Amino acid sequence: MSGFGNDFATEAVKGALPQGRNSPQRPAFGLYAEQFSGTAFTVPRDHNRRSWLYRMRPSAMHDAFAPYPWGEAIETGPIAGDSFPPNRLRWSPMDLPESPTDWVDGLVTWAGNGDAAMLSGIGIHLYAATASMENKAFFDADGELLIVPQMGGLRLVTEMGVIDVAPNAIAVIPRGLKFRVELTDGEARGYVCENYGAPFRLPDLGPIGSNGLANSRDFLTPVAAFEDRDEPCELVQKFGGALWTTTLGHSPFDVVGWHGNNAPYTYDLARFNTIGTVSFDHPDPSIFTVLTSPSASPGTANCDFVIFPPRWMVGEDTFRPPWFHRNVMSEYMGLIHGAYDAKAGGFAPGGGSLHNCMNAHGPDKASAQAAMSAELKPHKIEDTMAFMFESCLPIRPTRHAMETPLLQEDYDDGWDGFEKAGLPG
Ligand SMILES: [Fe+2]
Repeated sequence: MSGFGNDFATEAVKGALPQGRNSPQRPAFGLYAEQFSGTAFTVPRDHNRRSWLYRMRPSAMHDAFAPYPWGEAIETGPIAGDSFPPNRLRWSPMDLPESPTDWVDGLVTWAGNGDAAMLSGIGIHLYAATASMENKAFFDADGELLIVPQMGGLRLVTEMGVIDVAPNAIAVIPRGLKFRVELTDGEARGYVCENYGAPFRLPDLGPIGSNGLANSRDFLTPVAAFEDRDEPCELVQKFGGALWTTTLGHSPFDVVGWHGNNAPYTYDLARFNTIGTVSFDHPDPSIFTVLTSPSASPGTANCDFVIFPPRWMVGEDTFRPPWFHRNVMSEYMGLIHGAYDAKAGGFAPGGGSLHNCMNAHGPDKASAQAAMSAELKPHKIEDTMAFMFESCLPIRPTRHAMETPLLQEDYDDGWDGFEKAGLPG
């Protein structure tokens, strides 16, 4: 079903959805009605999110949760640590695990900010998985999940339908929605932004007008699909920064029909309508924003999800790479495929970099020199898809991210040795 944030209605069995009301005395077939809220009841209508689910058993029918042995690879804002280095950081990609590891067990937290309990900030995780989840489901009470596959396809079996997503596309799972991750290529690696704040929405377009960037119709939400399976299923949840587990006697994917606008979705990044200069200078990279999670301060994002897709460079008398920059916002970047135009080497697909608030960054010396001496004819950057999680809150690396051998110790060297400007006289 197409369209961002639409009010959808879908049923896998004809007649499962009640008509004209949400919670009839006896829903069809003995189904149970359940409201699934994505915003407070009283959020203004424009941004209010909720769905009604019609399921074979109430979600409430479960035993108590007990701690899940997750080895503390997963961390949650506020990120703990003795020091918070201001340094620019870059990491090489994670290897795949040697023993069979599912998506939940393959998550490692790299950085984060804010405080999940204050509904502010984000967690930045990487995943590397070699096994599908079987008889196991997961949900995240701490945040919405923006999943960015970098290698290998994922089939996300959710309560509200099935989403297939592969590298160069993203999927967004609402806070609290149960899902299972199956690996369609046997192994998978990618990035996750866990958004503790307001749900992602499309950015305002201002003078761009009523079209452009990510267009609403390109966001896809699955139709209802369910499993009628009476066998044990482990249900793992992330709550309060920890993982918890319980076992159900049945598949939790037993929603036969649903309606509403609090639902998972996927988006093919190749559909992004990339906008840039047709005269000189770059506009600010906010024109590459796919989705934004606003903070309470207008125009200041808790998190922007920004991409750097293939695009034409035509600027006249213009330094064409992303310019040198000191930003009040903090930037975590990843690379899905190809090369990023500001970095000649070292930024590999599956790797990442972190440039925190007010710390100078920009093209490395090799990229800058090449750009300053290039003949400025129209040029297409072809094989590339980098992205950024950009946040108004400084992004703190985890202890794991600071201690892993994947941290590149020579990252600052890329900015060494720029020639001093030669003033007249
Ligand atoms: Fe920047």
